[in-house]
Amino acid sequence: MQIKKIFTRIDQLLVDAIIVPVTNNDHLKWQSQGLSLYKSAEKTLAPLIKMDFLSSNGITTIPLPQGIKAKILIICSIIKPEEDGPTTLRDALIAGLKEAQKIRAASVAIAMDDFLDWLPTDSRSNALKIFSLALCDLPYTFDRYKTKSKTANTRKPKALSSMTFCFNKKLSLIDERSINAGEVIAAGMKLTKDLGNLPGNVCTPAYLAKTAKDLAKQNRLKVTVIDQSQLEKMGAGAFVAVARGSREPGKLIILEYKGGSIQDKPYVLVGKGITFDTGGISIKPAGGMDEMKYDMCGAASVLGVMQVLSQLKPKINVIGVIAAAENMPDGNATRPGDIVTSLSGKTIEILNTDAEGRLVLCDALTYIGRYKPKIVIDIATLTGACIVALGHMASGLLSNNNGLASDLLKSGESILDPAWQLPLWKSYRKFMESPFADLANISSGKGAGTITAASFLSHFTEDYVWAHLDVAGTAWENRKSGATGRPVPLLCEYLLTQANTQTLTSRTITPRKTVAKKSKPTRKILLKIVK
Ligand code: BES
Ligand code: MN
Ligand code: ZN
Repeated sequence: MQIKKIFTRIDQLLVDAIIVPVTNNDHLKWQSQGLSLYKSAEKTLAPLIKMDFLSSNGITTIPLPQGIKAKILIICSIIKPEEDGPTTLRDALIAGLKEAQKIRAASVAIAMDDFLDWLPTDSRSNALKIFSLALCDLPYTFDRYKTKSKTANTRKPKALSSMTFCFNKKLSLIDERSINAGEVIAAGMKLTKDLGNLPGNVCTPAYLAKTAKDLAKQNRLKVTVIDQSQLEKMGAGAFVAVARGSREPGKLIILEYKGGSIQDKPYVLVGKGITFDTGGISIKPAGGMDEMKYDMCGAASVLGVMQVLSQLKPKINVIGVIAAAENMPDGNATRPGDIVTSLSGKTIEILNTDAEGRLVLCDALTYIGRYKPKIVIDIATLTGACIVALGHMASGLLSNNNGLASDLLKSGESILDPAWQLPLWKSYRKFMESPFADLANISSGKGAGTITAASFLSHFTEDYVWAHLDVAGTAWENRKSGATGRPVPLLCEYLLTQANTQTLTSRTITPRKTVAKKSKPTRKILLKIVK
């Protein structure tokens, strides 16, 4: 959805519903837009002061009198708006917009300054990004396969179709850009969610390749698809060990976004794209197995991010790689105990065919070494253990570089798509040893499933700075809620910040050169100081 930005009093807007926050410090407290609205509709709104609807965060809906152009007022009451930074305010906005959807408002205006007023000025533009992202993402539905409700939907004229942010004065360029970034990131999340929600019979490795090709065509990205037979010839034995049990051939998909200069080393994102994970011969129990259609959400997030990059055009180079395969048990499938040679040359004893993500990823991570990456981040629904450790709140983060880990943690925190770091000590490696091969694909010990999986991957990432995001708990929550689009916000925030700091560094380098030319006066000054 595109957000309209209007600079006027909210009671002047002709919309179905307006959303305004209030808080109460003893008295009902309206912010600026709310206050002018209150003054123009005092008769209707004055009795509210007596109402006790501010005992908790909540929503009150009030029909507006005729003098006001909007029909319905949605009041978001927020007890402590300054608490938890933008989180409380974002949640209030979400609740407000949900209410607008409930009453089938087609057009909504939000008194945005009134929400922002509670935040420190320097966090304003980041908050705008968070708000626009959350509000654009909220109306998302996945009803492609609902034949009945689809016709019903076209009959219903009133689905949310316009959203306006109402401001007191013109926006700064940075605020404007932040709102736009939120919209674009939400659109990237939509692509990620759609792919995740599609069933396994539709979203196959070939479908992911087609999606990547379409994205490349629309946005002038370079795309390469390496098919299973080529991978086999190349020696990607770990990848092929997973793909061979399925009728759907596996694919390694590579998308290249070039926003930087030719010599800039690329950031590389690698997504696990298991389009359905039955477990293979180590087959999973039947209950809830349908959710394994989401096992390609890492790959879907790579595509979502590539879409965002091609729209926001940051000045960096990014390569998105997808290891796409289906994990099935058939007559040609890998048996537990089989030993394969990975692309790196390291041999792997596959003790459990359900630990397939690390197998496709290790070959993809070896393959991308040829790009001499600046930084590599893989994104994978890798372990059920990650849900045990962190639930659905934070993505698991493991890295061979603490600088990168802290940058990713900061980005996640800033855009409210958090990750949490787990240790990747070398001492965990002993659990991944095999008596017969260089590595086993499952741990010989109990516990630390997320760490031992990452520890396995770390054997293939020693040549570069690397982080692993285990999104088993965050990419979707349950079959009903569907895909979340995470960690697209975290990754976008990280890459956009990187692009900004890079341009900043090159900017600071340029004046230094000019100073160097006038080196004589600088020396004189230094001498004076020494004297
Ligand atoms: N895709 C699963 C991990 C998963 C499970 C994600 C449930 C989200 C929800 C992965 O391929 C898997 O099966 N992992 C095994 C590893 C084990 C065999 C070492 C797991 O987590 O049980
Ligand atoms: Mn599995
Ligand atoms: Zn899996």
